[in-house]
Amino acid sequence: MTRKIAVCRREHFNAAHRLHNHLLSAAENEQLYGKCNRPNYHGHNYELTVKVTGEIDARTGYVLDTKQLSETIKEHVLDKLDHNNLNLDVPELQGINPTTENLAIAIYNMLRPQIKEPQDLKIILYETERNFVEYPA
Ligand code: NI
Repeated sequence: MTRKIAVCRREHFNAAHRLHNHLLSAAENEQLYGKCNRPNYHGHNYELTVKVTGEIDARTGYVLDTKQLSETIKEHVLDKLDHNNLNLDVPELQGINPTTENLAIAIYNMLRPQIKEPQDLKIILYETERNFVEYPA
């Protein structure tokens, strides 16, 4: 019988962004991104779930220590993103259009080196209550 199980930690951060593709015209950008294209940025309240899947450790009964996971997320993700401008302030997002999709992949890349193999990592990121992405799909 498999002992694989998923452990999830939910976190929250606020950040500003502007969605814009410099290869497209102003009209195309506005049509594509709507309010998210406004030049002076705007904020979102992001809800982040970090999901780690692995075997239960026989000694601890844990897949991993959620307190440590929380500290890892704080250090490697929240301290970089929370109350920052995703277009301007985050080195990992330089030159990247900060859609929810691209942001979730950036968060995955920030955390993947911190999660020990062969544990699986999945990022679930809500930009609004109704819109969210999962990476890997
Ligand atoms: Ni937006």
